[in-house]
Amino acid sequence: MERLDKILASQGTLSRRDVKELIRKGLVMVNGVVVKDSSQKIDENKDVVVLNGEEISLKKHIYIMLNKPQGVVSASESEQDETVVDLVPDSLYRKGLFPAGRLDKDTTGFVLITDDGDFAHKILSPKNHIFKTYIAGLDHSLGTAEIEMLENGITLADGTVLKEAKVEILEDGDKPFVKIMICEGKYHQVKRMFAAAGNKVISLHRSKMGNLELDSTLKPGECREITKEELILVQSNKNV
Ligand code: URA
Repeated sequence: MERLDKILASQGTLSRRDVKELIRKGLVMVNGVVVKDSSQKIDENKDVVVLNGEEISLKKHIYIMLNKPQGVVSASESEQDETVVDLVPDSLYRKGLFPAGRLDKDTTGFVLITDDGDFAHKILSPKNHIFKTYIAGLDHSLGTAEIEMLENGITLADGTVLKEAKVEILEDGDKPFVKIMICEGKYHQVKRMFAAAGNKVISLHRSKMGNLELDSTLKPGECREITKEELILVQSNKNV
């Protein structure tokens, strides 16, 4: 049980003072009844709170899937650039959102945005072997020796050690497309891996985190909440 004003202020952009004012004006309803007492206790698991006609999500944490477009940075705030958190609509926005793992500015695809630090740590820690799947467009075809090299894990010229990856050719030819799965997220990792194999990444798209595919109905820049069942898939390190 938590105070009504505290719950509302922790969900979105409103300060506790703004919340108190809205409550005083009669713009907040709990279970269909206008409540003017900011200190009323709310049960997050069963009460329905409506602010200005819109139902407020009372969940402790939120998990959002974004189809990141190019040109947007994987950060919570930036002076120069639009961020992935800027793309979260008001209905899903709350304080403390951040991307769980970064994609480069020119990489597209699945970014998981949350306010749950423990969850982010869990899915990003290489120890947990949660694979992130990328589709990379390459500059030229990839030989078996190069695939083997990436699959065995490599040490880059600067001494960075990269764990083994899984590589599959999706479309062969002059400008092939390959699927690559990695379970760590070092800086420019996929680009550096292919560079070490004598190739160049022309385009990069993250299609999957753990066993959860990016929802194909999300257009670039669109996001939606991840369901409880889907959250289990994100944390799955069994490759299915
Ligand atoms: N590897 C990269 O090189 N870039 C990304 O954005 C993600 C993985």
